[in-house]
Amino acid sequence: MQEDADILCYCEWLTRDEIIAAIPHVRSLKELRETTRVCTTCFGCEGDLDDLLVQYGHLFGTALA
Ligand code: FES
Repeated sequence: MQEDADILCYCEWLTRDEIIAAIPHVRSLKELRETTRVCTTCFGCEGDLDDLLVQYGHLFGTALA
């Protein structure tokens, strides 16, 4: 059961875990937005997304060949 507190992007109802899980499968923030739709509507989650990428940005592309 997901708690509301885990939601990072309310427009697309995406949790932090969903976004973190998607990062290794894309190469950039642009691709992350295209794939998950995170932060593509009101941009109110942009600061939280930036904070998350400070922690997890090193994972970009790590699941890709
Ligand atoms: S909360 Fe993420 S785009 Fe609106």
